[in-house]
Amino acid sequence: MLAKLSGPIGVLDSGVGGLTIVRELQRILPGEDIIYFGDSANCPYGNKSSEELITLGKNMLSFLSDNGVKMTAFGCNTLSSMIENFIPCFDHKLSSVIAPIAAHIAESGLKEVGLIATEFTVSRGGYQKLIHSHDPCIDVVAKGSPLLAALVDRGDFNDAEIDAEIRRQMDYILSRKKVKDVILGCTHYPIVIENFKRCYPDINFIDPAVYQAYAVRDYLASQDNSFNQKQRGSFVVCTSGDPQIYANASKLLGLFQPDEIKVVKIRYIKSQFYFTL
Ligand code: DGL
Repeated sequence: MLAKLSGPIGVLDSGVGGLTIVRELQRILPGEDIIYFGDSANCPYGNKSSEELITLGKNMLSFLSDNGVKMTAFGCNTLSSMIENFIPCFDHKLSSVIAPIAAHIAESGLKEVGLIATEFTVSRGGYQKLIHSHDPCIDVVAKGSPLLAALVDRGDFNDAEIDAEIRRQMDYILSRKKVKDVILGCTHYPIVIENFKRCYPDINFIDPAVYQAYAVRDYLASQDNSFNQKQRGSFVVCTSGDPQIYANASKLLGLFQPDEIKVVKIRYIKSQFYFTL
């Protein structure tokens, strides 16, 4: 007999990007309490080494675990591409943002798809491997951006540099193949999806967030319907960065207004670092 899970859903990301996952969770599961961790002090993650990312990811997950989450939905594609490093270390379910969209791409019958993501995500090959585990014939034309996540995380969503970087990376993808569908494989990118559409009106840009939210719903259903029976859940944001940027991004994305935005401090004890309130 399965025990029902209780507690909030944790969502983590290197910065504001994972709020695009919160948007879909609040749409599909509005009764769920959500605790969000955005590590803007250490953003961008996409240019870091595996060792640094393992340390940062474990620290965020420990923070969420200490806050009693019943599961964690990864917003971060970069950390999702190395999720096997985290799963054995935590008792609660960790849900990758990449696995559900990879399954969806294969089910949709596409034979070629573009992928724009961080440099780490592209070079790690997690998207390519998971898509090919469903259908090895799908051509994934991938390009990493060294800049876009950090530009978005600064909070000036109208910065002309954002369009310039989108054009640089998208032109590269299209020069390799004229794909019609492109996955936004970094959670920061759907925040500026209108910029992508304005620059490339004929391309279908795919936001993985909705498939991550369905995966969360399916997991909670599989755990004896461990849903929160409220009309509207609470929404707490924790960040190591500027809280105002989170307030602005939440508004821009039409999220429930955060009940609280807490600033997380980084503490060093015996040269190990921890996130604390
Ligand atoms: N938003 C994260 C992702 O989805 C990481 C972006 C970054 O910090 O480089 O990969």
